[in-house]
Amino acid sequence: MSVLVRRAVAADARELARMRQLSLTCPEEPWTKPRDLRGGPWVEECQETFAAMLGDQDTVAAFVVDAAPGCVAACAVGFLLPRLPGPDSSKPFNGDISTVATDPAFRRRGYARAVVTALIDWMTVRGCKRISLTASSEGEPLYTSLGFVTDNPRMSRLAG
Ligand SMILES: CC(C)(COP(=O)(O)OP(=O)(O)OC[C@H]1O[C@@H](n2cnc3c(N)ncnc32)[C@H](O)[C@@H]1OP(=O)(O)O)[C@@H](O)C(=O)NCCC(=O)NCCS
Repeated sequence: MSVLVRRAVAADARELARMRQLSLTCPEEPWTKPRDLRGGPWVEECQETFAAMLGDQDTVAAFVVDAAPGCVAACAVGFLLPRLPGPDSSKPFNGDISTVATDPAFRRRGYARAVVTALIDWMTVRGCKRISLTASSEGEPLYTSLGFVTDNPRMSRLAG
C-alpha cells in the first residue's frame, strides 16, 4: 500500500518540533526503547523556527505522513545549501537532510522511507548536486538502502 506524503506548512510547526525531539532519541542499541530527551525552551524555539522557515523560505522543506489531523506520524526536513559552480557541475545547491523521525507507534510501515524519498525527489528537482546527512544507528539501514555512503574526508568543528 502506498504511503500518503505531503509537504508540511507553517501550521505543522508544533508537531515538527515534537518530531525533532523524537529524532534525537535514537538509543545506542538500535531498535530498543528510545532514550529520554529533555524538553525545555529549545523545543518552543524550534517550533518558532519551523513556523518562520516553512512560512516563507523556499530553501527549506519538510515532508510528513499524518497520523490524524494535526498529528504527524513521520517527518523529514531538508535544506538547500547554495554551492558554487565547479568544473563537473553547475548545480546551484547541495542538500542537507535533518530531523528524520517516525513516532514509535507508527514504525516499520515504510513512513521514514516515504518522507526521505520525497525530500530527495524535491532536492533533485531543485538542482542539488549532493545530498548529505548525519545518520543515527537506527537511520543507517534506511539511508544505505537509498544509496547514501560514508563520505570522508569531510571535517567539521564547533564554531566559536
Ligand atoms: C530510523 C527511523 C526514522 C525509521 O523509521 P520507520 O518509519 O520505522 O522506517 P521505515 O519503516 O521506513 O523503514 C526503513 C528501513 O529502516 C530499517 N528498519 C526500520 N525499522 C527497523 C527495525 N525495527 N529493525 C531493523 N531494521 C529496521 C529497514 O532497513 C527499513 O527498510 P525495510 O522495511 O524495507 O526493511 C525511526 O526508527 C526513528 O524515528 N528512530 C529514532 C530517531 C532516529 O534515529 N532518526 C534518524 C535520524 S538520522
